Amino acid sequence: MTGFIAFIKGLVAVIMSVLNFFFWPVFGDFTAATTPLKEDCRLNFAAISDIHMKDETARRDMLAFGLQDMENSQHSLDALICAGDLTDHGEKEEWEMLAEAFSGYTPAENIILTQGNHDTWTGDDDYALSVKHFIEYNEVIAGREIEKVYYSTKINGYTFIVMGSESDHTYAVFSQEQIDWLDKEMETASKDGLPIFVISHWPINESHGLPVTWGDDEPEPDDGGMGDQSAQVEEVLKKYENVFLISGHIHNGLTNESQEDVYDYVSVESDGSFHSVNLPSYMYLSIRGRIANGTGLNFEVYDDEVVIRARSYSAGVWYTDYNYTIELV
Ligand SMILES: [Fe+2]
Repeated sequence: MTGFIAFIKGLVAVIMSVLNFFFWPVFGDFTAATTPLKEDCRLNFAAISDIHMKDETARRDMLAFGLQDMENSQHSLDALICAGDLTDHGEKEEWEMLAEAFSGYTPAENIILTQGNHDTWTGDDDYALSVKHFIEYNEVIAGREIEKVYYSTKINGYTFIVMGSESDHTYAVFSQEQIDWLDKEMETASKDGLPIFVISHWPINESHGLPVTWGDDEPEPDDGGMGDQSAQVEEVLKKYENVFLISGHIHNGLTNESQEDVYDYVSVESDGSFHSVNLPSYMYLSIRGRIANGTGLNFEVYDDEVVIRARSYSAGVWYTDYNYTIELV
């Protein structure tokens, strides 16, 4: 019986992936062609969010499809960013399943794991235990030794700053210590004169169509965003140039500017120097925008620009309606 259920769930994963193909007439075009990655590309990385791993074969398979696609990428990936909600409830068994899925593949040279609100929960609502799991499985999955839920790392000379919540609410709680640390890390990184990538599961309050896109009937202004420290974090991020904030959490499907009138949000918002990039949920279909799951964004970083392309990592195709070229200042 167990084998039969596993077969059915595996089949569902395949169907979920195949469904990607059927929505393209409504939401846009795709291609299986390779991308024209230029020779002077300094950094090439994939970003996905909201894997929500739990004890379902379909979820493990859905992730495996993507990891395999990344491993077989025509242009090898310097990094894979996972922007939080790695697990569905932060339980040990879910972390184990996530680790098992990752163990079969080498999707990128570096893996960056970010904590999401679902990762702060455990079966016993034990935040301290959730931190223990996050630290432990960072070492298991990414081979990275960290001490806190927030940390920074450099890849090909570019700084990645990872933020994490210090409580187990749906919104984030960033201590003053973490915000001061963020400012200091950014000040140091800015001296390199390169773009800085900040990863927070939670987007800035009222960005990307929030709070309406969070979905509550009578939304509060902070719903779906970082919460109380959002303005403080935003102020720090906007002190510096060429900053990319990469988030998830909302489970919005991809949209571009031509769809803004329909959906009231775009996936990449920019003021010319600060760029807020909100990733779709990798595991769940969205109710708005490009609804397909298995998707994420690929970043190519050059000296003068960053090219962001949408990809269905599970189906192995590029969604060509969601390409963004961001000129660096
Ligand atoms: Fe999520």
